[in-house]
Amino acid sequence: MTSFVEVTHDGYVSTLTINRPDKLNALSQEVLSDLGAAIEVLAGKDEIRAAVITGTGKAFVAGADIAAMKNMTQAQGHAFGALGHGVFAAIENLRFPVIAAVNGFALGGGCELALACDFIYASSKAKFGQPEVNLGIIPGFGGTQRLPRRVGSAVARELIYTGKMINAEEALRIGLANAVFEPDELLGAAAKTAAEIASKGPLAVAAAKRLIRDGVDLALPEANQLEQAAFGEGFTTEDRNEGMAAFLEKRAPVFKGA
Ligand code: COA
Repeated sequence: MTSFVEVTHDGYVSTLTINRPDKLNALSQEVLSDLGAAIEVLAGKDEIRAAVITGTGKAFVAGADIAAMKNMTQAQGHAFGALGHGVFAAIENLRFPVIAAVNGFALGGGCELALACDFIYASSKAKFGQPEVNLGIIPGFGGTQRLPRRVGSAVARELIYTGKMINAEEALRIGLANAVFEPDELLGAAAKTAAEIASKGPLAVAAAKRLIRDGVDLALPEANQLEQAAFGEGFTTEDRNEGMAAFLEKRAPVFKGA
């Protein structure tokens, strides 16, 4: 059986490509299940230190599958939302960082998928939006929660209430995308940054990801407690011995993730 998600590996970096171009990579239950299965496999691979998610063709992901949702009952809609939330939470909970390389349309569930990643690199042809209100529904895979946390409440409100599409430059301006690249340079740029991340102490990067993710919704004193505990734990690793010794010996460190 062919999967809607292709996975390739290059050293410590994995790339996941959503591959349903005839429907602009729309997220059906099958696509979401394939994505969830691919994430589960990556989560079990100790050697992976960073990942990139992108799409085939002119879309990153043009949203949840509208044809599939058309006849859903309330219970089916609820289950579909739960599936999307589960897969996107699994991405957010991966030990290592994930870069969304947004090659084209990132609408609805596509924008929400990008938001579940650590940060977004966009092609100059990318288009972002949460157009669900055009269909008479709300974002259902985390958009009402992750978008305001990423770009601020007022900007998120405008995007979600109007359902309008914005281009890559606007996404950059509002802090949704970290950087914009020419279309043929996007994947190379994402792979380069992923490889750079993968060259750092993987336990330190993983701890930083966990702290940023878990701390964002806590009061600052509580969040800082998390950091204090994790900072001390970092001194127990072989990687910190290697990192500090390498600095003092004026050589490049070789991290083992131990
Ligand atoms: N769900 C299901 N199918 C979708 C889809 C989605 N979210 N987005 C696109 N498709 C399908 C189209 O129905 C079409 O299928 P067909 O060739 O069998 O008719 C195919 O993908 C190509 O899309 P098309 O609309 O012809 O491309 P376009 O370049 O003219 O327009 C968009 C691109 C992204 C502007 C347009 O497809 C669109 O508005 N998509 C829906 C976006 C959306 O509302 N997403 C949120 C869903 S909750």
